[in-house]
Parts: sequence; structure tokens; C-alpha cells
Amino acid sequence: MSPVRESISKGSVSPVRAVPASIERPDYVGKRASARWHGGDVHSAETIEKIRISAKVAAQALAEVGRAVVPGVTTDELDRLGHEFLLDHRAYPSTLGYPGAAGRPPFPKAMCTSLNEVICHGIPDSTVVQEGDIVKVDITAFMNGVHGDNCGSFIAGEGTEATRQLVEVTHESMMRGIKAARPGREVNVIGRVIEKYAARFGYESVRDYTGHGVGPAFHTGLVIPHYDAAPYHDDVIEPGMVFTVEPMLCAGQQANHEWNDGWTVVTNDGSWVAQFEHTILITADGQEVLTTP
Ligand code: MF3
Ligand code: CO
Ligand code: CO
Repeated sequence: MSPVRESISKGSVSPVRAVPASIERPDYVGKRASARWHGGDVHSAETIEKIRISAKVAAQALAEVGRAVVPGVTTDELDRLGHEFLLDHRAYPSTLGYPGAAGRPPFPKAMCTSLNEVICHGIPDSTVVQEGDIVKVDITAFMNGVHGDNCGSFIAGEGTEATRQLVEVTHESMMRGIKAARPGREVNVIGRVIEKYAARFGYESVRDYTGHGVGPAFHTGLVIPHYDAAPYHDDVIEPGMVFTVEPMLCAGQQANHEWNDGWTVVTNDGSWVAQFEHTILITADGQEVLTTP
């Protein structure tokens, strides 16, 4: 894809935004690492009802921020909108203070904003969104002890035909992956479906970042690959499980590296990337998307 703008570079990050003490924080905030989750991925009816609420608020926040993706807005301004929306709904922005890799700083903002060749984990900053950019917004809400996680890709202005196709195909790949998630199957079927569909268009699916179990922990330890990982990732899908499906598709190659900020992940070849993410619940005979506004 021919980029319509120069490559993305680091902007300046604004001071950390406050969260009132009355809003419950996840246990990892202020710690150097998140505690490992040992509670499994099949949840009680009571926990699932709580996840529904977090997922709904996360989806509403995503829609709100998505409407603000227009040429001229900074990613910091998008963060401000998402941060305030979550606080207004008595939710904590799960990414704010999420511990990084050893020796790296915690994530400093209420969402990830990843433009063009940035695959994921972009930090909102002074970067100005330009006509034709793909802006991935990944926002997660924590309420009542549980998280709901979702991401969407928004094009600033019209975008090129190639950009629109990348975004549409990525959304469709996520939906196909979700529909493949049924009790009795191994989680690796999800990635197989996603990768196969992406390949029809010459796109590569990112391997190094995956979907995950979500609920009482932001990342429970269950991994949902977006590529054909068989015979690995053979966890069997069961009713009552909650996890994300969040494919990142590249117009070029998926090989990637991280910036020295400890977070921002970019394609090595500079190819553009789209991503969508839903939090889903596995039901007796299929699945339900929880991140709907
Ligand atoms: N929301 C991302 C996911 O889908 C995780 C972001 S963690 C952060 O798993 F620290 F980078 F914000
Ligand atoms: Co996410
Ligand atoms: Co996620």
C-alpha cells in the first residue's frame, strides 16, 4: 500500500490524567508486574453479568472515541475523550498504569492509539491525525472487578481504496474467527480461519500479539492466536469462557519490532495495519459478542 503520509514518529506524551480515588483500580496499578491469574477462563453467571457491564461501557467508549477520529485531532485528545467517558461511567481505564515488560515503564494512558504501520500499543501523544490515516483505538474498561476489552480501526476522512479494503477485511476476519469459536473446538481454529481469510487478500496476520482470556484479569494467561498454531494452542473452548479475538492484519509483512518506549509495535516493512477486537462469551452452542454499545 502506498502510504499517504510519512512514517509515524514519537510525539510528546502529556502528563498522566487523574482518576478519582472513588473509582476502583485493578490490582496491578502501582505494581511492577501484574499478578498471575489462577482462576481459569470459565466464569460464574455472576462474574459474566459483571463482564457484560464492563464490555458494554468499553464498547460505548470506543464508539465515542471513534466518532472523534477526524483529520487534525491529536491522539492525546482522543485519549482525553476516552478517559473522561470511562470516568463518567464510573469505570477505570484498564491500560492506565498497566505494568510493562521488566524495566519498562507502565502504560501511561487510558487507551492505545496505533496509527498506520503501528501494529498495537501506540501511546496517545501530540501526533496529529492526518487525512487517510488508519487509527486503531484499543480501549478497556474495569468495573466491579472485571475488564471488557475492545478495539476498532477508524479511517480519518475517506482513505484510499486500499486502506478501506484492509479495514473491511480485518473486521470480517475477526467476525469469521468469532463465529468459529464454539464449545468443543480448540482455540487454534480461530486463528486458522482468520489467517486463511487474510491470505486471500495477500495480507499477513500478526503472530506476536494475540487474543487473550479476559474478565477478572486483563490478560488471564489463555492465548488466542490469530494464525494457524495447531498442534499448539489446543485449549478446548467451553461454555462460560470469556476471551478476546483481536486480529491485526498487515498489508505487507507481519515481522515487527518495538520502539524504545517499551510499548509501540511497528511493522518492519512499514506496511499499514488494521485491527478489530471484541470480548466474547462462549455459550452452550456458540458465542455472544459482549462488546456491543
Ligand atoms: N487492550 C490491549 C489488548 O487488547 C492491551 C493493551 S495493554 C497496554 O490486549 F498496556 F498496552 F495498554
Ligand atoms: Co484491547
Ligand atoms: Co485485548
